Amino acid sequence: MFLCENSFKMIQAKNLHKYYDQLHVLKGVDLHIKQGEIVSIVGASGAGKTTLLQILGTLDQPTAENGIELRINNEDILNMNDKTLSKFRNLNLGFIFQFHQLLPEFTALENVCIPAFIANKSKQETETEAKKLLAYLGLSHRINHKPNELSGGEQQRVAVARALINKPAIIFADEPSGNLDTASAENLHQLFFKLRDELGQTFVIVTHNEELANMADRKLVMVDGQISN
Ligand SMILES: Nc1ncnc2c1ncn2[C@@H]1O[C@H](COP(=O)(O)OP(=O)(O)OP(=O)(O)O)[C@@H](O)[C@H]1O
Ligand SMILES: [Mg+2]
Repeated sequence: MFLCENSFKMIQAKNLHKYYDQLHVLKGVDLHIKQGEIVSIVGASGAGKTTLLQILGTLDQPTAENGIELRINNEDILNMNDKTLSKFRNLNLGFIFQFHQLLPEFTALENVCIPAFIANKSKQETETEAKKLLAYLGLSHRINHKPNELSGGEQQRVAVARALINKPAIIFADEPSGNLDTASAENLHQLFFKLRDELGQTFVIVTHNEELANMADRKLVMVDGQISN
């Protein structure tokens, strides 16, 4: 188990606010997540879960506020320029979305390799690693197929492999099993825990799936733009 006793803080957020015009969506979120921790975020539709995840994942920016802080893997995210931030995101963060967002014209193997190619890793090394990940996910026989030739659960597993190819410190998942049947959802959830135990990754998972939410080390409940527990 990788849950660190020395409690290295992988994510430190203070006073995160987000306004969309007049709409105050995040109302001062404070959050600490430890390395190797699996944290679930639940809450009603519209509570601000996706907004928070996108901000923690550096895909969106919080509104400037006094006392705001966002440190990820000990880096000050809010003061990075775009180029540095893109590089940081590519190397440190992995994303799994409800709709896998694979590129339709590429095979499973190619989809998995893309983030590594963006990081300038060699073709051979990347393909070897991608094949290893796909095998681990039970997809060795499907690597040369395009997304529309794969089942929903298979596509989601390809998306998981793509999220893992650069061995990111943190995986952000937004409704990762929202689109899967019960058995595929359970397999995916087991996989998250297996990956944490074997590779030590930190997971932040937004979910409406009660079972997944309760399996997490910690469940955060969002209510009206704030974490209520
Ligand atoms: N780009 C945007 N522009 C304007 N309003 C937005 C934008 N994105 C989200 N919102 C609004 O912000 C609020 C929070 O949205 P968010 O997507 O974070 O909710 P959520 O908790 O993820 O909900 P769900 O469970 O339905 O996915 C909602 O009222 C939503 O309509
Ligand atoms: Mg959402």
